[in-house]
Amino acid sequence: MLTIKNLSVDVDNKNILKDFNLDIKLNEVHAIMGPNGIGKSTICKVIMGDPNYLVTTGSITFDSKNLLDLSVTDRARAGIFLLNQTPIEIPGVTNAEMLRLSLSQRQGSMVSIFEFNKKMEAICKKLDIPKSFIHRGINEGMSGGERKKNELLHLWMLEPKFIILDEVDSGLDVDSLKIVCESINEYKKEHNCSILIISHHPEILKMLKCEYIHILSDGSIVENGDLTLADKIEKEGYKTYSGINKVSDNQNEE
Ligand SMILES: Nc1ncnc2c1ncn2[C@@H]1O[C@H](COP(=O)(O)OP(=O)(O)OP(=O)(O)O)[C@@H](O)[C@H]1O
Ligand SMILES: [Mg+2]
Repeated sequence: MLTIKNLSVDVDNKNILKDFNLDIKLNEVHAIMGPNGIGKSTICKVIMGDPNYLVTTGSITFDSKNLLDLSVTDRARAGIFLLNQTPIEIPGVTNAEMLRLSLSQRQGSMVSIFEFNKKMEAICKKLDIPKSFIHRGINEGMSGGERKKNELLHLWMLEPKFIILDEVDSGLDVDSLKIVCESINEYKKEHNCSILIISHHPEILKMLKCEYIHILSDGSIVENGDLTLADKIEKEGYKTYSGINKVSDNQNEE
């Protein structure tokens, strides 16, 4: 579904990713772990098409399309969704306005207000957020945890098929974390989709039934494994990886 080959990325004239490879198939759940500032969010933003990140070599293919040729809008239309580590506020544009317009553009005619409201209200209930969020400015004045849930509201409405969760667990209390994970698992059960998770915590990877873990160091994947690798990191940290060269490009062939 998503294949990244030999990707090198610079930001602000600094090389962050080099010779980075990743292959995610339909219905798979993958996670990238690595120390702060190593380039995890960079990967997410490059997949989504953030223009601040300069791809110098390599390719990203999504559903046989060359993703690097597509605008951010077209990547979103293709079904890619990024839940940002720090979701930004867009004051003056409400959730309802943005979502109804996005859905209407996709289907080519205006979405019925009755069906739209019904769906929005059901999702608010599922995510345990007040209905008043529907008509609030996007993330405007929302707490860190509320923003994460608000972005999940967008996810449920837009129905993406490739979901990137960049530290969705940060800022969530234990109850909210449970609601968010259950909601993502329910979404995955109802839709054919793949998920790429960035997290520092093995607990959320277990809750989201993550099957493949990749460790990022020095710009590329240096180790691949399953949930036991996340537990190992929790105990030992990343010190064994610093400065080592990549050991495998074909993380799914094991
Ligand atoms: N827009 C930008 N301008 C300048 N430097 C940037 C920009 N985006 C990322 N960087 C730098 O690139 C490096 C990688 O950042 P990134 O956000 O990808 O790290 P991360 O692995 O997600 O870290 P964390 O675990 O703290 O979220 C950092 O040194 C960061 O300062
Ligand atoms: Mg990050």
